[in-house]
Order: sequence, then C-alpha cells, then structure tokens
Amino acid sequence: MSKQEVILCQSLESDLALAIKQCPHDKLFILTDRHTYEHCWPRLSGLSYLKEAIGICIEAEDSHKTLDALSTIWMALSTQGATRHSLLINLGGGMVTDMGGFAAATFKRGISYINIPTTLLAMVDASVGGKTGINFNGLKNEIGAFAPAKSVLIDTTFLHSLDQDNLLSGYAEMLKHGLISTPEHWAELLKVDLYQTDYTVLQKLVGQSVQIKEEIVDIDPFEHGIRKALNLGHTVGHAFESLALSHKAPILHGHAVAWGLVCELYLSNRQAGFPQDKMRQTIRFIKLNYGVFGFECKQYETLYALMQHDKKNCSDTINFTLLKEIGEICIDQTATKEMIFEMLDFYRECMGV
Ligand SMILES: NC(=O)c1ccc[n+]([C@@H]2O[C@H](COP(=O)([O-])OP(=O)(O)OC[C@H]3O[C@@H](n4cnc5c(N)ncnc54)[C@H](O)[C@@H]3O)[C@@H](O)[C@H]2O)c1
Ligand SMILES: [Zn+2]
Repeated sequence: MSKQEVILCQSLESDLALAIKQCPHDKLFILTDRHTYEHCWPRLSGLSYLKEAIGICIEAEDSHKTLDALSTIWMALSTQGATRHSLLINLGGGMVTDMGGFAAATFKRGISYINIPTTLLAMVDASVGGKTGINFNGLKNEIGAFAPAKSVLIDTTFLHSLDQDNLLSGYAEMLKHGLISTPEHWAELLKVDLYQTDYTVLQKLVGQSVQIKEEIVDIDPFEHGIRKALNLGHTVGHAFESLALSHKAPILHGHAVAWGLVCELYLSNRQAGFPQDKMRQTIRFIKLNYGVFGFECKQYETLYALMQHDKKNCSDTINFTLLKEIGEICIDQTATKEMIFEMLDFYRECMGV
C-alpha cells in the first residue's frame, strides 16, 4: 500500500494548497456532511483555489454510512463530469473520510483523495491508515477497500466546534495509542483535563498519537500482525457497542473502547502480567471521564456471543490483543469463557455497576 502523507498543519490554507498542487487533476470535488458543511466548510470556502470546487453534501452520522449515501456521492461525481483524473477532498469525521475514501477508491477504478479530518477520532484514527468503507446488511464496515489518501491534513482548530462526547470518543483511541506506545506518552495523556481542553497541549498529543498509528500501519498495512495492536480494547468494546445498540441506546465508539480497555487491561494483568498500578491508574481516568456502561450478570452470555461474532475472530475462539507492559504488545491471545466472565465481574466491581 502506498504511503500517505500526514501533515500536522501550521497553516491549513497553505498546506492544502500544496497538497492539491501535488495531485494534478481536472476537476476538484469536496465532500462534507451537513454538520461539517455548517461548521468546517466556512473555514475553507473563501480560498481562491477552491473557487471551482464542486460540493457534495451528505447526511451526518454513521447511520448514513450506507450504500444509498455512497450512491449519492457516485452519482454527484458522475453527473458533474468527474474523470479518472479528478480529485476528492473529504472534509469531516470518520464517517465522511471512510465513505468518501471508498467512493474515491471505487469511482472509475480509483481517483485520488485528500482527507481533512474534523473530529478527534478521525484525526488520530479513521482518516489515517487507508481503511475505507461503508456499513452494509446491518454490519459495520462490511464493504470496503484499503485505499490510502494522498494526504491527510490535520488541523486541530476544527475541534473547537466539536461536542464534548465526540471529543471524549476520539480521546479513547489516543489512550489506546498511549497504552501500546511508551510509558511517557501514556502518562502525559492521563494528565489531561478533558473538560477544560488546552488546545495547544491537545495539538501536540494528537501529533504523537497519529504518528503511533502511522508507524504501526507502515509496518503492517493489511493487518496480518502488529496492526492488530490497534484492536486493544476493541474485542470487548465492540460487544458493548452491539449490546447498547440492541437496546436502542447506542453509545459512541470511543466510549465503548474506553470501557473495553478496562476489561482488556484486566485480562492483560491476569494473563500477561500487565502491572496492576498502571491498570488502576488508567481505569481511574476512564471512570472519571467516561462514566460507566452498565450491564447485568445475565447479559454475560450475550456479551460472550457478541465477542465470538466479532469479525476479527475467525473461529470459535475469541481473539484479544493484550499488553505485558505499556508498549509491550501480545497479539493473537485467547481467553477461556471462565476468564472472560471473571473479567466482566471485575469490570462491574471496579466500575461500581
Ligand atoms: N477507517 C478507519 O480506520 C476507522 C477507524 C476508526 C473509526 N472509523 C469510522 O469512523 C466513523 C466514526 O467517526 P467519527 O467519530 O469521526 O464520527 P462522525 O464522522 O460521524 O462525526 C461525529 C459527529 O460530529 C460531526 N462533526 C464532525 N466534525 C465536526 C466539527 N469539527 N464540529 C462539529 N461537528 C462535527 C459529524 O457531522 C457527526 O455528527 C465510523 O464510521 C467508524 O467506523 C474508521
Ligand atoms: Zn476504534
């Protein structure tokens, strides 16, 4: 997979001008959702080099990461004369960068695209690494392709209009990056007051976080090995997400990951010797900032079945990424059903469910 250029912008205006120049094109398209059209597009709309850009705006939220919305994008490209040499700019959160990336990957067998992520989650995770796609048949990211953006331009000033819940959601992935990288980065992340955001500090941490993801993706772009480190917290997190959804009370992905981290750090402690003090410190931070996701003993079987059905598991065994220490990653780990139930007991006890 070719490498994408990730830029932590000093000046979005000039960095974008350069990124566009590096992608010779006939027509320029810019994809937003309703919210990023309102909150983020005004920042760019006055730029002379975007005067001719053709806008495509879709409905917001993951529930619209669908074949219908994808078809709307393809249709807009097709009817407005896009060619193999056209360029698409995705301005939005992970929903826009995932679906816009996939639209670009498939239109005329692939056109170039640039990501400008506008949520914290998209900055440190979704917009980087080349995974694109849509939800299909009730399944998340069921259809997709590996197709890296030409450039990813990160400007944290877009976060000023982002709501607190989405900020927290993205921060959970940063916390995950902290756990799989170095004790120093992890410790810095735990010091942040997420309710009084210091954007200068956040900008620096975002830069480090995205670099951690990039380094892992560079080594293993197609997730045969070390890229699985990025799944830390996700086996349980996805089960929580699905359980919440089945009760028609959806939770944000990052929140599910944060609560999943609580469980998987316990498993790391029990099975790989992850230090208890670091586990406790991380859990305290999560409880303080994310509150608690509640469930009862009688839902353990359902959660277990959901973990089994997570797409990352090829057989009946449940796969986890665990940690021996911060930055010491053990991929392809399994746990018995008994141990998983013990982990859920631990979660409920320490979170006070
Ligand atoms: N490709 C990957 O590797 C990868 C990784 C993680 C997540 N994802 C995908 O990312 C998606 C989730 O991304 P997300 O959390 O960014 O959600 P999102 O794109 O749905 O954005 C969340 C909400 O914030 C709004 N928004 C975006 N930027 C804003 C801004 N600056 N100010 C105000 N509102 C703004 C959006 O319109 C939306 O309503 C999911 O579809 C998930 O599957 C992909
Ligand atoms: Zn995630």
